[in-house]
Amino acid sequence: MSLSERKIVVGVGGGIAAFKAVELVRELQRRNAIVRVMMTEAGARFVGPVTLAGLTAHPVVTDLWDPQYPGEAHVELSAWAEAIVIAPATANILARASFGMADDVVLATLLCSDCPVLFAPAMHPRMWSRKATHENITRLKGNGATFVGPVRGPLASGEEGMGRMSEPAEIADALTTLVARSGDLKGRTILVTAGPTVEDLDPVRFIGNRSTGRMGFAVAARAAARGAKVVLVAGPVTLETPPRVTRVDVRSALEMATVVSEHVRKADAVVMTAAVADYRAARVATEKLKKGGERLSIDLVQNPDILAGLGAARENGKPVLVGFAVETQDVAAGARKKLVDKKVDLIFANHATDGFGGDENEAILVDAAGDQPLPRMTKLALSDVILDRVRDLLTSR
Ligand SMILES: Cc1cc2nc3c(=O)[nH]c(=O)nc-3n(C[C@H](O)[C@H](O)[C@H](O)COP(=O)(O)O)c2cc1C
Repeated sequence: MSLSERKIVVGVGGGIAAFKAVELVRELQRRNAIVRVMMTEAGARFVGPVTLAGLTAHPVVTDLWDPQYPGEAHVELSAWAEAIVIAPATANILARASFGMADDVVLATLLCSDCPVLFAPAMHPRMWSRKATHENITRLKGNGATFVGPVRGPLASGEEGMGRMSEPAEIADALTTLVARSGDLKGRTILVTAGPTVEDLDPVRFIGNRSTGRMGFAVAARAAARGAKVVLVAGPVTLETPPRVTRVDVRSALEMATVVSEHVRKADAVVMTAAVADYRAARVATEKLKKGGERLSIDLVQNPDILAGLGAARENGKPVLVGFAVETQDVAAGARKKLVDKKVDLIFANHATDGFGGDENEAILVDAAGDQPLPRMTKLALSDVILDRVRDLLTSR
């Protein structure tokens, strides 16, 4: 992974940490990136554009209306950039960018860009703790932006807390990962299943489970953002379809099995996050079941195991298969058994109490080489870790 010869635009916002943008530019140059700088008006109050122009041997764009600049700076910069990093990303920049504002050169370039964007927030802990700030971040992430930091530490105000910008080397590392992931799944087709399946008992009742579909939707969103063609087979969930994802809605395990079998031939990889019901009602009543005696028995029959079916049927390791295991005890052991029994490449194993609902999860990745425990992180970040493994498996075959 390298930034060598990659064209990077650094956007500098108006915070004290702007002084670290100078070191960031140097760090990116040490990694052989080609760097251009844009600054907000407030950013240019904190560090001199002359310093950054001197470092990059290129004019620093600070003004959308600069009569010296031939053409439209924001259009040219956004077309030139292979990645944009905003450091420091002030609370104000996050707010404006999250609403698609374009009233200065940094915001207009962001809105005009089609490349990966990394924000390195820096602000006072109280600004960082505000609900509004986090709503803005959620919106930006929903549009595909990634974040590094902030971190806890000493602040310019003399206080200590959460809101300090990540160090330049850490930002450069995050940018390197982001650039490596950009377009790395281009030309690949990835089939993702998500959500619960619902097994009807009668016209109004069903057996379901607590899966919300968030993990699978995150995998689909990140795979599409990284250039893959994505087919998302979703059980009944209330989530919005991520951009550039083809979604097929299903209800029962049998329907999911049918749709998966229709799409699997074209898939380079299958990521099965769905919580598929193991059993369904032997008979679905056509009329609403009436209340009867003290007890009621429901006769259940086993559903097909979609993942095991794919594992048994594949040849030469194609498609790459990723399964999910939710356990309530000994998570890793359950995952290792599933890996072997179902003949898959990778199992993402998590505890039932960690995974359902929420935007974060904690998991262990299990493959033939061993276990990789992952720290708690967002489902989007976990998706990238899974997709890194998928990419490596695809390139090794
Ligand atoms: C001395 C000083 C330090 C500031 N530091 C920060 C900061 O670290 N983070 C932040 O979000 N805003 C900070 N602000 C407030 C921003 O400068 C202000 O919101 C500005 O409008 C942001 O402009 P921008 O959108 O161009 O970044 C600071 C203001 C001053 C005067």
